Amino acid sequence: QEDDFKKVISHAKEYGYVFQSSEIYDGLSAVYDYAQNGAELKRNIREYWWKAMVQMNDNIVGLDSAILMHPTVWKASGHVDAFNDPLIDNKDSKKRYRADVLVEEHAAKIEAKIDKEVAKASKRFGESFDKNQFLETNPKVIGYQEQIATILKRLGKSLETEDLADVKSLIEELGIACPVSGSKNWTEVKQFNLMFGTKLGASADSAMNLYLRPETAQGIFVNFLNVQKTGRMKVPFGIAQIGKAFRNEIVARQFIFRQREFEQMEMQFFVRPGTQKEWYEAWKENRIKWHLSLGIGEDNYRFHDHEKLAHYADAAADIEFKFPFGFKELEGIHSRTDFDLSSHEEFSGKKLQYFDPELNESYVPYVVETSIGLDRMFLAVFSNALQEEELENGTTRTVLKLPAVLAPNKAAVLPLVKKDGLPELAHEIIDELKWDFNVIYDEKDAVGRRYRRQDANGTPFCITVDHQSLEDRTVTIRHRDTMEQQRVSIDAVKSIIAKEVDM
Ligand code: GAP
Repeated sequence: QEDDFKKVISHAKEYGYVFQSSEIYDGLSAVYDYAQNGAELKRNIREYWWKAMVQMNDNIVGLDSAILMHPTVWKASGHVDAFNDPLIDNKDSKKRYRADVLVEEHAAKIEAKIDKEVAKASKRFGESFDKNQFLETNPKVIGYQEQIATILKRLGKSLETEDLADVKSLIEELGIACPVSGSKNWTEVKQFNLMFGTKLGASADSAMNLYLRPETAQGIFVNFLNVQKTGRMKVPFGIAQIGKAFRNEIVARQFIFRQREFEQMEMQFFVRPGTQKEWYEAWKENRIKWHLSLGIGEDNYRFHDHEKLAHYADAAADIEFKFPFGFKELEGIHSRTDFDLSSHEEFSGKKLQYFDPELNESYVPYVVETSIGLDRMFLAVFSNALQEEELENGTTRTVLKLPAVLAPNKAAVLPLVKKDGLPELAHEIIDELKWDFNVIYDEKDAVGRRYRRQDANGTPFCITVDHQSLEDRTVTIRHRDTMEQQRVSIDAVKSIIAKEVDM
């Protein structure tokens, strides 16, 4: 698992997807830059989400609100008082950790033991192996499952009741050691606010303390009435937004999974009070369908319904994805009640109510939120796509099987040789295709090597121009995933690509 994850990180760098920020200065931890291919993949994910949410729903509109907001926003939202992580220091190594993550990682180690047992048994029983039955009847595995459940339940309760002493006791009872020093000498657990502070204004005494937004959602809440009125929106309706968010994360070991600067794609759906449960269920279903529409595989997703709820929520679930380091949160769907709007009413002194013409009454709408991290979606798509395949001739190939709709470049056009007018014809094809798709030109190395390079880049099609192309205006088109090649007319190339990449 660890090796797979390392391969993902190094492939992302080698093929121009993700670089460490400020690398020439030895980098800035948990901050990343998206390079030539990464920026395109990100842009395509954004667009895939925006189309599904805004373009396809006539009752959802977009918003692009500022990162900097009035500081009282974060008082009203609860972030100033409650957006904290429980931290613990190891007295010997002086390293700082998130106490809850230490416990969760301990539980993940036990989960890895389950995976090992399952793998052993499936090898032993071969085709007659039934995983579910094994999980339900094998005492050893059941024991592990119970241990995990007990640990996580106690952690959840301690965090909810802010019983930080108990979080520390849990760490001690489980015998968790510092990953660096191996020491079990821990300090007390303390709360640490995750918001980044900054200042507005030049002079020291008049400067105003601001925060970089830790979520995009509040920009939607404070604009709720402006959008509703100017767009003449009728409840139920939604406001969607994609933008940067900032959190001073302490645990920063998981590449782009947990960053200090990241992007969220959030949608707040405003509904009539009392109908939130139905909408919550509808959005859970809608969002999982969106994920599955990319063809990444049903087995890679699961719902995690929260038993312990944040103070503002009356239901919440995560869509978890099977990342190289296990199942982890990719998206959250939250029924947030009228908490945010009511709180902004109270703090701003302005009414944030909707007049419902059918009921002939005004109310503060309830909100169902869907919130997905763009960078996490990137990691999900990218890590799942990276595969090493054994070929029939005994060699292996590295291939990035990105869904064609998300791939940075849809095709590469390759002249077989660098002479005889083949490069000119290749450029002519590119000039025709580039109005519709990102297409690249590659003439270096033998054509077989160029195919492998495009496989590793994630390009779904290679179009090869050879001498026959000059005579009959046909080319070969090679499909990345099957490696099959067809001879087709140049005029047909566009529609063949379009069929695969259309949303
Ligand atoms: N408005 C709700 C909200 O912000 P959240 O669960 O804190 O909820 C939503 O965040 C999503 O944002 C997560 O499911 C995750 O995909 C993404 N996210 C949160 N923190 C992140 C981080 N430090 N780095 C990358 N993505 C993050």
